[in-house]
Amino acid sequence: MDLWLIGIGTGNPEHVTLEAQRALREAALILVPRKGPDKSDLAGLRHRIIAEAGATAPVQEFDYPTRDPNLPYKHRVRAWHDEIALCWQDAIAKADPHGPVALLVWGDPSLYDSTLRIATRLEPAPKLRVLPGITALHALTAAHGITFNTLAGAVTVTTGRRLRDHGWPYGAETVAVMLDGDCGFRSLDRTDLMIWWGAYLGMEEQILDHGPVVEAGPRIVEARARARADHGWIMDTYVLRPMGLD
Ligand SMILES: C[S@@+](CC[C@H](N)C(=O)[O-])C[C@H]1O[C@@H](n2cnc3c(N)ncnc32)[C@H](O)[C@@H]1O
Repeated sequence: MDLWLIGIGTGNPEHVTLEAQRALREAALILVPRKGPDKSDLAGLRHRIIAEAGATAPVQEFDYPTRDPNLPYKHRVRAWHDEIALCWQDAIAKADPHGPVALLVWGDPSLYDSTLRIATRLEPAPKLRVLPGITALHALTAAHGITFNTLAGAVTVTTGRRLRDHGWPYGAETVAVMLDGDCGFRSLDRTDLMIWWGAYLGMEEQILDHGPVVEAGPRIVEARARARADHGWIMDTYVLRPMGLD
């Protein structure tokens, strides 16, 4: 089976590349996850992207299994991936496609996304094709009009959990943080950092803020809580860098 993992960007239908649109038109089946009512607008966005590409293949929705809270984190995620692979397999078997199967992947499939890992669990192993997409980090740096790295500098991409558990990454210059449900920048014992933050990047609801963490941090904590309460969900990401570096 040919399995195409199509990066769709981070919420703006115009992030979808011409290559991705063509793949959607050429696919024989398109799989769309249903993640629950609070994320229904994201499923809606996927359907809009499919329609705007002019795709005519059947669209098969599948439900995401729930994670077992009793397992330790990594075991829980691996068991969840096994279950998702089974969900895909069921959905594909039901549709019995005669041609490539396409899966829409948020942002880019290589960045903090396990679709590629889950694909390796399918039997027989599919023939994979990956189509790149705009990542949340690209959407963030573009929205703020900043460079990702300083001149010839390095960037560390990490998660909110790691920032909270391990502090500022050793020797890091620019730190990009994803998957942070709890404003992990608050746990850092530094007063010299700038933050560039964005939520719902690429979407109508997009919110941006930036400035020294000591000033912008409390504003971001408040704006994040308010937005989360208003929308029922939030996706946000940010870049941290010591002041004065460019
Ligand atoms: C599971 S990762 C997926 C990342 C995705 N593959 C990418 O290329 O950006 C989800 C995290 O990406 C970030 N993210 C994704 N979409 C976003 C958006 N529209 N606005 C802000 N952050 C976003 C958030 O940090 C979120 O917790």
